[in-house]
Amino acid sequence: MTKQNIETLAVTYGFEIDETGSTNPPLHLSNAYKFKDAGHAKALFDLKAPGYIYTRLNNPTNNILEERINALEGGVGTLAAASGHSAEFMTICALAEAGDEIISSNALYGGTFNMFSHSLRRLGIKVKFADVLNPAEFEALVTDKTKAVFVESISNPGCEIPDFEEISKIAKRHKIPFIVDNTCLTPYLFQPKAFGADIIIHSTTKFLGGHAAVMGGSVTDCGTFDWTSGRFPSFCRPDPSYHGVVYAGDFPQNAFIVKLRTQVLRDIGACQSPFNSYLTLQGIQTLHVRMDRHVQNAAALAEYLKNNAKIAWVKHPSAEGSPFKQAAQKYFKKGCGAVFSFGLKGGYDAGKKLIENVKLCLHATNLGDVRTVITHPASTTHSQLSREEKLKTGISDDLIRISAGIENIDDIIADIEGALI
Ligand SMILES: Cc1ncc(COP(=O)(O)O)c(C=O)c1O
Repeated sequence: MTKQNIETLAVTYGFEIDETGSTNPPLHLSNAYKFKDAGHAKALFDLKAPGYIYTRLNNPTNNILEERINALEGGVGTLAAASGHSAEFMTICALAEAGDEIISSNALYGGTFNMFSHSLRRLGIKVKFADVLNPAEFEALVTDKTKAVFVESISNPGCEIPDFEEISKIAKRHKIPFIVDNTCLTPYLFQPKAFGADIIIHSTTKFLGGHAAVMGGSVTDCGTFDWTSGRFPSFCRPDPSYHGVVYAGDFPQNAFIVKLRTQVLRDIGACQSPFNSYLTLQGIQTLHVRMDRHVQNAAALAEYLKNNAKIAWVKHPSAEGSPFKQAAQKYFKKGCGAVFSFGLKGGYDAGKKLIENVKLCLHATNLGDVRTVITHPASTTHSQLSREEKLKTGISDDLIRISAGIENIDDIIADIEGALI
């Protein structure tokens, strides 16, 4: 069969109806799997046969989700994780150790910024932040200890868009893997592999799941990075913790994802619950239909806010003077997602009032829900950041983040209008 389109992959990939005739993927609530015999068990543990050992490592329902996300992102292997944060943390743990460095865009979700600035530093991994608008800054920060370059495909909540082509060229020039967190766009709106990503991360908690029912994360290995090119000796020598497997030598096509599962997931243990995978699969089936409506509603809402006398500014790539207009047109042909931010002329107090007055929009800390969600990052998602860190990541006190849902746009606008008193 010729390669199917993304809408078809989202509905069907990774699951074939079995002899039961069941039309939905099965939910395998089992933490362990009976081996056929001692030889079979040994082959599984030696990574010489496909199959299941223990749900911390793999599970048939998780596997369907992994196959589906992998097909959507065009990878050679995907791992499901307990959350977006655990996906990020395990990815960094697979690449870096004490003494190593990561270069990250400064335009990041606050939780990621916090993990990078503090928790990784406590482990001896230094994250250096570069201005997302300035690819040359990324290059200036490269040293022989750099193990990854990290960006969000469109940042939460500032809508900053990296110059993927330029940044990936820099990463390639220095033989550093390029990681893209594609949470806010999903593979329906943007496929980072086509613009040089080597590893793609998602918080599946958001648009992929779509219904705000469960947490989840994923990591996709694009199979594009040469782990033998010098920076990653740990991929090229025997792993004493996994009876001497040499990831780059024994698994040249998918070394990263094998290491992530067999070494890092095994040890950190942030595995996905099969129940969460099951529900995330239900969400992915409608991804393309939801995303089109999310994008349409966000664009209409941004337009309404731009023309409202009570609004001081709107940060959306379509806004007047946005430095990301061209990048959005170049990279995101189907739209630039549904998360954006704005500020009220009345500042912090007016923002607080708006959030307290909305009735349809949810005042919550989430995005990617089918419902419109409104958040005040300075007092919630980014509250653990210092004043200086908030400014560095573009979070002003008056900033309101909105994740446009899929309700009728007239009702969303009426709710905001009524709350803007
Ligand atoms: C862009 C981005 N990446 C990662 C995460 C972390 O995901 P999770 O909340 O599933 O751990 C979030 C959470 O909001 C996010 O917005």
